[in-house]
Amino acid sequence: MAPSILAADFKNLGQQIKACKDGGAEYLHIDVMDGVFVPQISFGMPVIKSIRPATDLIFDVHLMIVDPLRYIDEFTRCGADIITFHLEAAEDPRAVADAIHNAGKKCGISIRPGTPVEDVFPYADVCDMILIMTVEPGFGGQKFIEASYDRIRTLRKYLDDNGHDNVDIEVDGGVRRENLESILAAGANVIVAGSAVFSGDVKTDVEILTADFARV
Ligand code: DX5
Ligand code: ZN
Repeated sequence: MAPSILAADFKNLGQQIKACKDGGAEYLHIDVMDGVFVPQISFGMPVIKSIRPATDLIFDVHLMIVDPLRYIDEFTRCGADIITFHLEAAEDPRAVADAIHNAGKKCGISIRPGTPVEDVFPYADVCDMILIMTVEPGFGGQKFIEASYDRIRTLRKYLDDNGHDNVDIEVDGGVRRENLESILAAGANVIVAGSAVFSGDVKTDVEILTADFARV
């Protein structure tokens, strides 16, 4: 479970991060948007750096930015544990993955809903995680795109059939209690949730989702 702080109440960010941990989350999903790869601008290094001492949650940094290679060292320094960049944003995805691994961090590659899932196959050997966007990246609270189930299944089969069964599949966008079971059944094993966690009591929402997760 990776709560996405994009949906958090930023005036109480420290408390909300603690509530995620207390509710049983293992990751904290951190959405960085540059206003170019996606039209929105979210937050960047200073925010990540300032929350790093507040928690030992695994920082799962989702870069929705152009030219990710330029920033790998900086995101490493401010405390990222997993750095996920977009396949569509990288000129040379292998070079970005190498930079992340050379910095001692885990590498994720993400694809937008419109990118054929097969496009990521050639990079499976350099991924610790593949992030399938199940909404158009940019903001929280959108509806899960139903066609995503087939994409998750196709990717899981490819990974299993080609000796990459250790690669995690993360799903991001529109995750709710109602679709969690189907998402996991399709083959995802890391789940991002923004509005489903932060619109009510954070600790309770995380507890409910992690319990559902554990049951499946
Ligand atoms: C969207 C972000 C997501 C977002 C998910 O571009 O990548 O992480 O916060 O929010 P929900 O869970 O509300 O769809
Ligand atoms: Zn995200």
